[in-house]
Amino acid sequence: MALYTVDRLRDVRRGIRSRGVVGALKAAARRGGRPIIARAARLRGAWADAAPSTSPAAHRYHQQGRLAADKRRWAAAAKTYQRAVDLDPSKAGWHHDLGRAQAKLKNWEGAVLAYQAAIARNPRSAAYHYRLGRALEAVSDWDRAASAYRRADRLAQESEQPVPRDVAARLTLPRRVELSVIEKPAYAYCLLRASKQAQQLGIRRISAVEFGVAGGNGLLALERHAERIEEAFGVSVDVYGFDTGAGLFEPEDIRDLPYFFAGGNYRMDVDALRRRLTRAHLVLGDAGETFGETLRSGMAPIGMMSFDMDFYSATTAVLRHLGDNVAEGTFLPRPKLYFDDVVGKSGQDYNEFTGELLAIAEFNESNASTKIARDRTFATYPRQLGWHQCIYTLHRFDHPAYATFIGSGTPTSLGLRDTR
Ligand SMILES: C[S@@+](CC[C@H](N)C(=O)[O-])C[C@H]1O[C@@H](n2cnc3c(N)ncnc32)[C@H](O)[C@@H]1O
Repeated sequence: MALYTVDRLRDVRRGIRSRGVVGALKAAARRGGRPIIARAARLRGAWADAAPSTSPAAHRYHQQGRLAADKRRWAAAAKTYQRAVDLDPSKAGWHHDLGRAQAKLKNWEGAVLAYQAAIARNPRSAAYHYRLGRALEAVSDWDRAASAYRRADRLAQESEQPVPRDVAARLTLPRRVELSVIEKPAYAYCLLRASKQAQQLGIRRISAVEFGVAGGNGLLALERHAERIEEAFGVSVDVYGFDTGAGLFEPEDIRDLPYFFAGGNYRMDVDALRRRLTRAHLVLGDAGETFGETLRSGMAPIGMMSFDMDFYSATTAVLRHLGDNVAEGTFLPRPKLYFDDVVGKSGQDYNEFTGELLAIAEFNESNASTKIARDRTFATYPRQLGWHQCIYTLHRFDHPAYATFIGSGTPTSLGLRDTR
């Protein structure tokens, strides 16, 4: 993506001579050189830091802090770094060093203040934002931690900065899902849980399905998640997207919420999407039919499904393929389901008598050994978000592996503790 061509860099440098730094950066931005701008702005921060301090005493304190940090004497390091920034508060890197020492001492409030001071002086360092996120997590300030991580990700992507190793070790894929610091977190959650379930049951390949693709942003995100999750769990993922290819059909009756969804909306640019897809099978037509055909042609057990077709009629037509009488090898025992249209903005007025909620209720009424139930994991999550209410599990009680033990308890777990 980034075009760090020698020509482009020369261009920027020449521009700096004639227009000054800001003018040259603006000109490069107009010519589409965003990565260069990001990198140059970051370098500008680094140059300011590299300039000698106007206070030799501050410089000495910072050096002493470094020596103490090298020996992992964090209290001494924090004390002398603090003296350095008190005498010369202009250096972003010094505040960051102070933050690192405070974090090592688990003085997280101190670390937050120091990282914020670093960011105020150099807002374009991804590492500063990542570490601020880590410190905010430690003080349970989840929302601000999540936004610090998101900002860090953006900067890291724009100017190719790595995630610091200490942060990467903590900001794992499951943690990103818990904090919702990942694109399409609901898809990541469902796929993560499905892959884990497959791994625990010794199943090596699963399918992940999106019903309702529209432009394709969700399907592309699902492909990217599959890539990362396959690596983490060693379970291969086949990705499928089902769509009419021509947007919504006309609503059949009031159960399709015609006051909110109109025929022809969400059309797909099929060629453009096919060019972007790297692995997903894109199946065009009425999903009620094409899904049945695809199942008959053979799919790996389905581990997750996203329902985003807006209509009661379309959702019901697909759910018919999920009921009691389906061959059990078709699914994992507890596939994860995401229903996009059960929580909405004002005006959508989702309810149990129309739309996806009605389709779910009717499915549960007409099936005895297969039920769709809300996933109740999320009360334990640090942040409570709308997408949590859209996640369900398809319980296939008659599945031969439904009762297979995958818990972590042992006979001695939770034994009586000796508290005398
Ligand atoms: C809201 S959009 C999907 C958005 C997409 N999931 C995303 O994340 O960007 C709804 C899609 O459902 C598709 N759809 C509706 N009824 C369908 C049906 N019976 N069969 C296949 N696709 C259908 C429409 O073509 C439309 O593209």
